[in-house]
Amino acid sequence: MSIRVKFGVEGLDEMLLGGLLERSICAIVGNYGTGKTMFALQFAYEGLSRGERVIYISLDEREDLLRATIAQKGWDASAFEDRFYLLRLDPTDFNLAISSIKSELPALIKITGASRVIIDPISLFEGLFEDESVRRQEMFAFIEMMRDEPCTLVITSETDIAKPDGSRYGLAEYLADTVVLLRYIRSPGLTEVHLALEVVKMRRSAHSREIKPFEIFPDRIMVYSEASLF
Ligand SMILES: Nc1ncnc2c1ncn2[C@@H]1O[C@H](COP(=O)(O)OP(=O)(O)OP(=O)(O)O)[C@@H](O)[C@H]1O
Ligand SMILES: [Mg+2]
Repeated sequence: MSIRVKFGVEGLDEMLLGGLLERSICAIVGNYGTGKTMFALQFAYEGLSRGERVIYISLDEREDLLRATIAQKGWDASAFEDRFYLLRLDPTDFNLAISSIKSELPALIKITGASRVIIDPISLFEGLFEDESVRRQEMFAFIEMMRDEPCTLVITSETDIAKPDGSRYGLAEYLADTVVLLRYIRSPGLTEVHLALEVVKMRRSAHSREIKPFEIFPDRIMVYSEASLF
């Protein structure tokens, strides 16, 4: 029986039949504002609440803003300060961002003993490589490297407006073991935009294929696993 790593989002863990597989790689794919960072933080918090060590690499949001979000959630950061490694990488500093992720991350995982690692969003790392074949190679090599690490990895990836069902470069969902797609639902007759998610794939496991509505609250995310959109 494979060990499950609880994601920490009620409803989603049920859809994943208990959670992610230990040491697997999960991509959270979605358009801007669909909640990718919120899911990533929730995954971090679940680990921290269980006494785990967590590395969170942010490529877009500044560390102080992320800490403000955490404070807004009412999480007691002081309780896990020494186990939470929140790093912000400046994606415009090409060499630093690449070397930090490629060579320093494995060392950091080893030193810290982190069991959960988050990169939010991986699309900015991918975007550092202008040449498409180099980008593929680099992403492939990075994911392969991470498969050898003793941790469960969550990466977030932005979709293109023109292509809301897939990540910008189409690599994240292809390389990841598990893909959770976050989407806006704009239906005729609805006066509100709804959010919905689906588990697109999960290697080595059965999973739900239903499209479920979810809501982001200040302190948590609720997936309405009993509700149906259609
Ligand atoms: N305190 C809150 N209460 C309720 N909803 C919130 C709260 N904070 C954020 N949200 C909702 O979450 C959305 C932002 O989520 P998040 O930052 O995770 O999205 P994202 O997919 O990471 O976006 P981006 O691609 O811009 O980084 C907001 O647009 C808002 O709808
Ligand atoms: Mg974000």
